[in-house]
Amino acid sequence: MTERSCLSIVLAAGEGTRMKSDRSKVLHEIAGLPLAAHVVRAAAAAGSDRVALVVGRDAETVEAVATPHAAKVTTYLQQERLGTAHAVLAASEAIKDGADDILVLFGDTPLVRPEDLATARHALAEGACVAVMGFYTENPFGYGRLIEEDGQLIDIREEKDASFLEKQIQFCNGGLMAIAGEHALELLHGIGNENAKGEYYLTDIVALARAKGHKVVAREIAFESVLGVNNRVELAEAEAIWQRRTRHRMMVDGVTLMQPASVHFSWDTVIGQDTLVEPNVVFGPSVSVGGGVTIRAFSHIEGAKIADNAEVGPFARLRPGAELAQNSKVGNFCEVKKASIGEGAKVNHLTYIGDAEIGARSNIGAGTVTCNYDGYSKHRTTIGEDVFVGTHTSLIAPIEVGSGAYVATGSVLTLNVPADALAIARGRQVNMDGRAKVLRQSLEAQKRQKS
Ligand code: UD1
Ligand code: MG
Repeated sequence: MTERSCLSIVLAAGEGTRMKSDRSKVLHEIAGLPLAAHVVRAAAAAGSDRVALVVGRDAETVEAVATPHAAKVTTYLQQERLGTAHAVLAASEAIKDGADDILVLFGDTPLVRPEDLATARHALAEGACVAVMGFYTENPFGYGRLIEEDGQLIDIREEKDASFLEKQIQFCNGGLMAIAGEHALELLHGIGNENAKGEYYLTDIVALARAKGHKVVAREIAFESVLGVNNRVELAEAEAIWQRRTRHRMMVDGVTLMQPASVHFSWDTVIGQDTLVEPNVVFGPSVSVGGGVTIRAFSHIEGAKIADNAEVGPFARLRPGAELAQNSKVGNFCEVKKASIGEGAKVNHLTYIGDAEIGARSNIGAGTVTCNYDGYSKHRTTIGEDVFVGTHTSLIAPIEVGSGAYVATGSVLTLNVPADALAIARGRQVNMDGRAKVLRQSLEAQKRQKS
């Protein structure tokens, strides 16, 4: 089969009233990515040469979040909201440029998969002029019903226009459609608005195409793929389905999830083979994890890079800019931000490492804090290789500790420590014999005087 060119038109101009939100519905996120961006990604993955994004509400923001997700995205403004066919025609310039396949996708159906789009394109390659993706449901209320005769799709009837008998049909329009590029404009321009809603229905293209003798087909896809997000309940449903699919993919790709349902991924989480993720771990945006890593329970990770065989948690918090080298360890109740932890280095207990660099094999004792912020600016802490930092050390940044240095427990470091030096920065201990008794007597006398 020769390569067919493809234009995807993503309709994202809707108001989204039922979302009860100050922003456009398609800006709401699942897995940390706006709905419209999910759809554009699917279009790109299905081999679209070009994506036309039809925007209305919050046009500029929708454009900004969606365009990075496909090589060539052009936005078109739909001034008035006169129906789905009218919305598609807002992108008529893109249609005029010519494409073998035109896909129409809705910006609020984030679970559509590249393989669903391939099914639609395949129908065109087999000679159809219009291919409609349908699904079966026991509760078809609100959807356009697919009307078939002798196994052929002859029309689509919207809920408000359907007769009693048509309303019984359970095969519904998922909203995803493929149209042969060569006939698209002519057919779209033929669509009128004489219906219950007074809107230009894209669905009328079916009867129009048939009247002109073109082949029209319906193909079944899973309801999940065309699940539309209209309110926050459906937003949560879509999130749950997305998470379930992603956990499944991660496990198939070689990641062990001890209790899969308790792990939350971001749209861009990358995890290598043989990594183990314990229960209740949250991955925020921009996290990549190597192979053979162990992420223990209740860790929260965002914007972090974790190299092979590192260990994280339990109860670790990795914030943006955290970079853990191979075989390094960040243990319980530790927070790491904008800091690199060298190969084999250990930050094991109750520690804050921010705006810092820790060299290979260094060991950071429990309760150590990089004091990076003076209330106005952030300052860096640099710790060399093979350094031992004793428990409960405060490093007042900017500060450097040279390789091989040894910092005594409880130090408050304000000065740089040269390589291989022993630094002790704490008050000297004084033991006064018998003085505890004297102190108690005096305190007791003071208390008696007051009462
Ligand atoms: C549409 C279909 C229906 C199908 C259902 C599936 C039509 C006429 N009906 O109905 O057959 O079963 O989806 O969910 O196509 N949009 C615009 N501009 C407009 C109108 C709509 O951009 O002027 C966008 C919306 O933002 C949305 C999409 O098009 O992303 C669908 O519009 P919507 O009003 O939700 O159509 P439905 O009534 O759900
Ligand atoms: Mg809808």
